[in-house]
Amino acid sequence: MKKKFRVFATCDIGEAIDLLRNRGYEVEVYPQPEAPPKSLIVEKVKSGIDGLITTLRDQIDAEVFRAGKSHLKVVAQIAVGFDNINRADANRYKIPFTHTADVLTEATAEFAFFMLGSLARRMWPAEHLTRENQWGYWHPYLPFLGDEVTGKIVAVIGTGRIGLAFIKKCVGFDLNILCYDPAYENHDYVKTIQEIANLRHARGLSRERAWIKYVSFEEALRHADFVSVHVPLLRAGESKTPTYHLFNEQTLRLMKPTAMLVNTSRGPVVDETALARALRENWIAGAALDVYATEPLPTDSPLRDPAIADRCRLMPHFASAARITRLSTDPNKGMAGRCVQGLIDVLEENYGGDIMKMPYVVNKEAFGK
Ligand code: GLV
Repeated sequence: MKKKFRVFATCDIGEAIDLLRNRGYEVEVYPQPEAPPKSLIVEKVKSGIDGLITTLRDQIDAEVFRAGKSHLKVVAQIAVGFDNINRADANRYKIPFTHTADVLTEATAEFAFFMLGSLARRMWPAEHLTRENQWGYWHPYLPFLGDEVTGKIVAVIGTGRIGLAFIKKCVGFDLNILCYDPAYENHDYVKTIQEIANLRHARGLSRERAWIKYVSFEEALRHADFVSVHVPLLRAGESKTPTYHLFNEQTLRLMKPTAMLVNTSRGPVVDETALARALRENWIAGAALDVYATEPLPTDSPLRDPAIADRCRLMPHFASAARITRLSTDPNKGMAGRCVQGLIDVLEENYGGDIMKMPYVVNKEAFGK
């Protein structure tokens, strides 16, 4: 008889759960919208489950892996980022974990672009004028103006999947693009984008010929009108190029006073105290954030200072929050589908049971020969 796999999910991921149940899996879903306490995750893992479905808000470390030492076969994370999962601990216990890269790339990139546009054109304070009956006249420049995006310079910090997709969105607005990546430079991609910019200009679609190039981090910050962040969170010791507090007092001061920062990557990449000060003291002109050091954003966060509310947009970790992106059961379209497929691959020993060949497993280094 086929083994009946037992799975605990720390959150509901919609119809993808039925997909597992229809395959005969016994699946328990934590019923609350908030994250379960860590002690409950440990207890469920200890109870002998084969698979654990997690999200970015669950701390998955040695305590959890130890609890699953003899029986836990896979942790399937519904997110592309996995800084909440301690990779060294997973490797020590030889438990593979999966993530949901690719299917949220376009959604996240477009949301970053929309945040940039909304910040630059001051859409939030503008709507407030209307709603609060403060829209008393049409005037050439009163009560305030925004800044165009078209033709400006954007720095893309991190040119992995999402950074590259963001660049693609920028092409339609004839933005000039400064790229920086501490780990890998994709010059082929940059060449293609330049060819498209050249064609747009040659065919009369853009007045100026837009450009794109890789530069140093410092050069990117010094020259950009907008800075969009697309790096993974890597703390000291986790990488030769850590990204924790990449944006701090020193680096924020490199930016132009008219420049704006957009962060859809991970909160701790930006020192929030330094950023709040940068906005208060006008070192930079604005920021739009989707991610925070602590989520949900604490009530006493310096980013909530009413003095900077007109130039600080605060989104609730929403960049991938689109229907198909989050919930499609198709592993090529939705995070939920890709999450359960990663789980199924390991539990049902797809790819001949060779973890090295399973596309959604992250920590393959623990399973090589
Ligand atoms: C969202 O932040 C993700 O990592 O998927």
